[in-house]
Amino acid sequence: MFQLSDEGKAFVKKQLARYEQKESAIIPSLYRVQDENGGWVSPEAIDHLSELMDIPASRIQEVMKFYTMFNQRPRGKYHVQVCTTLTCGMLGGRELCSFLMKEHGVKGPGEVSKDGKFSFSHVECLGSCDTAPVMQINREPYHESLTEEKALKILKELK
Ligand code: FES
Repeated sequence: MFQLSDEGKAFVKKQLARYEQKESAIIPSLYRVQDENGGWVSPEAIDHLSELMDIPASRIQEVMKFYTMFNQRPRGKYHVQVCTTLTCGMLGGRELCSFLMKEHGVKGPGEVSKDGKFSFSHVECLGSCDTAPVMQINREPYHESLTEEKALKILKELK
């Protein structure tokens, strides 16, 4: 049964006090839950947040499902998010993501590699279209102007 740490609970309470509309606290609270739950938001974590925030679980789930930065399934140690919209899409973002998944024996977005190290997802515009195609690993700074070779090298260097 998932429970936030005492610091996590205090963080959520602080967010609730910060905004006039308590629903505005959902996104930062989901980030906190995801960080404390190994990188994904489980149904139990949503129930816990719902109780803590006094917001219906269905509303929290709706927000969580809308934003691609929240993971609905367990992810790898490194969650590789490849932008596949607009400019990135036209410059091969989708093919790049497929290539990286294939290289790591992963059949599709959301699946975790056998060694538990990698998972992949397609994400909406990361706001760096002039350096497309772009990917982000976990919440680290973006990797930009990617080629298949460059992206593969970046992943190979991760321990
Ligand atoms: Fe990929 Fe904007 S389309 S960063």
